[in-house]
Amino acid sequence: MQPKPSELIAARAALRAGRLIGLPTETVYGLAANAFDPVAVARIFEAKRRPYFDPLIVHIGRSSDVHLVAREIPEDAHALMKAFWPGPLTLVLQKQLAVPDLVTSGMDTVAVRLPQHPVALELLQSLDFPLAAPSANPFGYVSPTTRQHVLDQLTDEVALVLDGGPCTVGVESTIVGFPKGRATVLRLGGLSVEDLEACLGYTVPTQLSSSQPHSPGQLASHYAPARAIRLVEHGAVRPENGVTFLPFFNEEQPTFSLSEDGTTASAATRLFGLLRQLDHSPDGPEVWIEKAPESGLGRAINDRLTRAAHRA
Ligand code: TXA
Ligand code: MG
Repeated sequence: MQPKPSELIAARAALRAGRLIGLPTETVYGLAANAFDPVAVARIFEAKRRPYFDPLIVHIGRSSDVHLVAREIPEDAHALMKAFWPGPLTLVLQKQLAVPDLVTSGMDTVAVRLPQHPVALELLQSLDFPLAAPSANPFGYVSPTTRQHVLDQLTDEVALVLDGGPCTVGVESTIVGFPKGRATVLRLGGLSVEDLEACLGYTVPTQLSSSQPHSPGQLASHYAPARAIRLVEHGAVRPENGVTFLPFFNEEQPTFSLSEDGTTASAATRLFGLLRQLDHSPDGPEVWIEKAPESGLGRAINDRLTRAAHRA
């Protein structure tokens, strides 16, 4: 999907004026501002009602721009950038002074990513500053995977939302940090741990604590929709009749499945849209959802489902 030149011009003007825009990426839509403008960045926190202790991801348009925001980049980070950028991978690196403290919540690290989306890339490559952009949803709500999802909740907060079509990945990026130079997964996401391990040649640990979040998107009930959800293990016996049940994949009724074709990739693109639908019918019976297989993208899907099912 190619961006409309007139929309790109309007987006650039809005960003230069310190305003917010909706930014399509391959994972989810972002709520973007000039990362080097602390006043504009503060507007992101206000618009999302996001606590200031939850730092933002900085988006760049080319790999070489990583040096604008990060320094002392470990060898393994370079290897991952080479293999997976542009793509659904965010790296947590030592920050440059130019990055405002507000972006990183006062930490000395910054989360950076190069998205794989033609509209995002064309915009980012035409700007002389990177874009700070968390997911474009009110804090604690399901991330948006279409332009309409953003407009449903944040119309008054944005100058415009660029149209990039539905997100092709559908869950947020995988976040990787480098304590002592070795990769550690801080958030499961659109790039599988198996792919990271194949690139690096070692077992990559995960550090996904929800009580003391290293990545605050990890809060236990982060995605909870209004309708109650109960999870069923993948491949478990189907619950008895009368229960509202969403299987992972049912060949006879693919549109009433999490995955339309049996793949985890399809389930990931549908997941947040389905959770939003459950919000539009909050008073219905509890919905039983079958988990994805616990490997590859399935791990990120099950992580989001577990948070969606969590009741504080
Ligand atoms: O796919 C994505 O990553 C999307 C698109 C828009 O790029 N963005 C996204 O942003 O999911 P957000 O704000 O919803 O999640 C950002 C996560 C937060 O959980 C935050 O805590 C973590 O990134 N994060 C940001 N800076 C960090 C840092 N320096 N160290 C550890 N975690 C960090
Ligand atoms: Mg988010």
